Amino acid sequence: MSRPLLRVRGLSKTFPGVRALQDVSLTVSSGEVVALLGHNGSGKSTLVKILAGVYDADEGAEIQVPAPESSGRGLHFIHQDLGLIASLTAVENIDLAKHLKNRALRPFRTRQERSHAKDLLARFGTDLDVTVPVSGLSPTERTLVAIARALGDWQSTHNVLILDEPTAALNADGVGSLFTAVRRLAADGTGVLFISHRLEEVVELADRVVVLRDGRVAAERLRGDFDRASLTELIAGGHLESHRTVSGRDFGPIRLRVEEVTGPELAGVSFTARAGEVVGISGLLGSGAETLTGAVFGSSARTSGRVLVDGTAIPPENPGAAVKTGVVLAPADRRRLGAFVTMTARENITLPLLSPLRRASGRLDFRAEKREARQWMDDVDVRPRGSIEKPFGLFSGGNQQKIVLGKWLRTRPKVLLLEEPTQGVDVGALAGIYQLIETAAADGAAVVVASSDTEELCRLCDRVLVLGQGRITAALSGRGLTEAELVRATLGGAEAAHPSFAHGGSR
Ligand SMILES: Nc1ncnc2c1ncn2[C@@H]1O[C@H](COP(=O)(O)OP(=O)(O)OP(=O)(O)O)[C@@H](O)[C@H]1O
Ligand SMILES: [Mg+2]
Repeated sequence: MSRPLLRVRGLSKTFPGVRALQDVSLTVSSGEVVALLGHNGSGKSTLVKILAGVYDADEGAEIQVPAPESSGRGLHFIHQDLGLIASLTAVENIDLAKHLKNRALRPFRTRQERSHAKDLLARFGTDLDVTVPVSGLSPTERTLVAIARALGDWQSTHNVLILDEPTAALNADGVGSLFTAVRRLAADGTGVLFISHRLEEVVELADRVVVLRDGRVAAERLRGDFDRASLTELIAGGHLESHRTVSGRDFGPIRLRVEEVTGPELAGVSFTARAGEVVGISGLLGSGAETLTGAVFGSSARTSGRVLVDGTAIPPENPGAAVKTGVVLAPADRRRLGAFVTMTARENITLPLLSPLRRASGRLDFRAEKREARQWMDDVDVRPRGSIEKPFGLFSGGNQQKIVLGKWLRTRPKVLLLEEPTQGVDVGALAGIYQLIETAAADGAAVVVASSDTEELCRLCDRVLVLGQGRITAALSGRGLTEAELVRATLGGAEAAHPSFAHGGSR
């Protein structure tokens, strides 16, 4: 029989005004992959942070962790916010623990460490620059650095690996590599605790699932005793209607015209999006799919080409001008670029558009502001309900994502640019968020969605553009837009580049 490596009994955690965890018990045994599931704000990351020593549990909890090895740790983490030090390079982040222990931070950039870091990252198909501060890397690249750090340097396999939504920013390729690595570790006796909102991954990987609801264990199931539908029900606490698929809506005139845009990873991309149309962007790491929306909006570099909104050109690298023209971007990197972390949810939501909330005197109508913030937070299903005065940074990951979305949807933009719009969003809130995005389109916005989630692109988009080597390599729409086709086109996207696919697709 496999032996328990991690054992938690009677774990509770109270934050001011919130009982994040109540009497939670959980065991992870050697060789076992346990998925920890639950709606946004159900307490998953709080549990992980208690195990990591970031928070203390309330009195009375019993926590038994694998004994630290003589020269290693018993628990290895990939945190939801990754826990990297932004100003350090990938090499430094990967070797941080070792160096802190040796108290020798100086001779960091030795050739050996650099090639070690490169080797670890190569397993995930990336050759990112390991010598630049990780703050300059994309969210996907930073995830890979955090994974490489957690998976590197194991002294013994009788440890527990804890992954808090490691796949939120990964495409199918990265997920595949990660799962292969996780399975190998589990086969060697490692215990794995895995958090994800992508239920197909859970079904694929987990031996057992533990579902939290409002901080308590609501259900526990063994492999064979759960499938995607039953997990959805357990997490959302009720049956969910399946989503419609887009079928030949009428679009309005062209709202967004992108002409031969170049920039980081972009070798000349042209496409249009009409009022009412939802256009998806797909592509592997380095294909340009991650940088295109930023280049269009102006939050990242655009070295040449034009972006026109209703015929008016918007200048490069000038997000302020873009917003004035009616273009908004909800970025993948929500904590850094999407919100003001120390401001309240209410302030974050109302700040981009205050004019409708002003009285004739010019003063802000505080009651109207509160009402509107509360309405939008309910619309995007932020939990806990009504927590409009809570600082943004104290919301759970998925709830932060919902607030950022609500804030930009509220401005009723002409062009809505979304990166990973539902990263970390629980299955119960998903359909509602898709509905809001569709409503924005139906109200006349041109919507562009960059996502690593092929299922999401198929559900949400009228047309999906696939990028490879900085160019559009395929455009899928109508019946040609299926997950299988999209995965195939995305994996094949690195090979060919036919910019002529860009306009109109098969429509
Ligand atoms: N430092 C904190 N101060 C106050 N409240 C907090 C703090 N950290 C977390 N919370 C609250 O505790 C609850 C649980 O949050 P947690 O981050 O554990 O959720 P989660 O299950 O990881 O959700 P998600 O799926 O969105 O990541 C939430 O209501 C959150 O707002
Ligand atoms: Mg979390």
